[in-house]
Amino acid sequence: MKATELLKPADKPEALLLEKIDLEHLPQHIAVIMDGNGRWAQSRHLPRVAGHRAGVQAAREIIETCARLHLPCLTLYAFSLENWRRPQTEVDFLMHLLREYLKRELPSIHKNNIRLVVIGRSSQLPDGVRKDIEQAMKLTEGNTGMKLVVALNYGARAEIVDAFNAMLDHAKANGAEPFRADEQTISDYLYTAGLPDPDLLIRTSGEMRVSNFLLWQIAYAEMYVTETLWPDFSRARLLEALIDYQKRERRYGGLGKADKADKADSKAGKNSAAPDKKPAKRGRG
Ligand code: FPP
Repeated sequence: MKATELLKPADKPEALLLEKIDLEHLPQHIAVIMDGNGRWAQSRHLPRVAGHRAGVQAAREIIETCARLHLPCLTLYAFSLENWRRPQTEVDFLMHLLREYLKRELPSIHKNNIRLVVIGRSSQLPDGVRKDIEQAMKLTEGNTGMKLVVALNYGARAEIVDAFNAMLDHAKANGAEPFRADEQTISDYLYTAGLPDPDLLIRTSGEMRVSNFLLWQIAYAEMYVTETLWPDFSRARLLEALIDYQKRERRYGGLGKADKADKADSKAGKNSAAPDKKPAKRGRG
């Protein structure tokens, strides 16, 4: 199947981008640090909250595109534990926007078989937000299409702390049995238990940071940082990120294709150190 059969291009440039998408090699999970709403608003002499409102529209377009491409999982970083440091009016507005978004979009999320999962310390959220989230997760829990994960009141170190405490509680409750964890055990105690690790981490607005987002899960994610501010991150910009991702060679600490060929050559007795050969690329994986 071709991507153009799943998505109707809005214009010629979008059609050209869609043609380059290989549906067989899409990431299983895209995680997004949506940044730049404030700068988008400032550059238009608008209040910061106008940037957040425009950010919701961008999120809507990206969610729809990923669902149409049958992506298994999309995670959006909507509110971090550190975001409480913002002015109260901005925090209140963000919470209000989220509830408004859920109210407006939940029927369509449900109709499209999308499962909503919210990760983070939800017990610290205002009651109304918490109740809306619980209802939305309950409504969509049987859906089998894309998992839309919203990180809300989320911090990756806090997630790891919560996982360790839950593991220790479990060990204590299970008596004297010495408890040992391995990587899978830790993954199973994280908020993201059961979800694939992100293959692609997108950050908008140019900052080269991971900002306490999914620290355990992004160990092998490909990073894509774009100068585009989040409200301008359209379907076309997402397709560009996917095309870039599909050009990458993922090595997981092993050898790349070129290195493997070199190794095979030297095993077969060919001189892989011939002076006219390019030096093999070496990296940490
Ligand atoms: C960063 O912009 C964005 C956020 C703090 C998250 C808010 C996200 C939305 C409103 C999108 C909605 C998401 C969903 C799931 C509906 P910033 O304020 O940090 O921008 P700046 O760095 O330019 O100041």
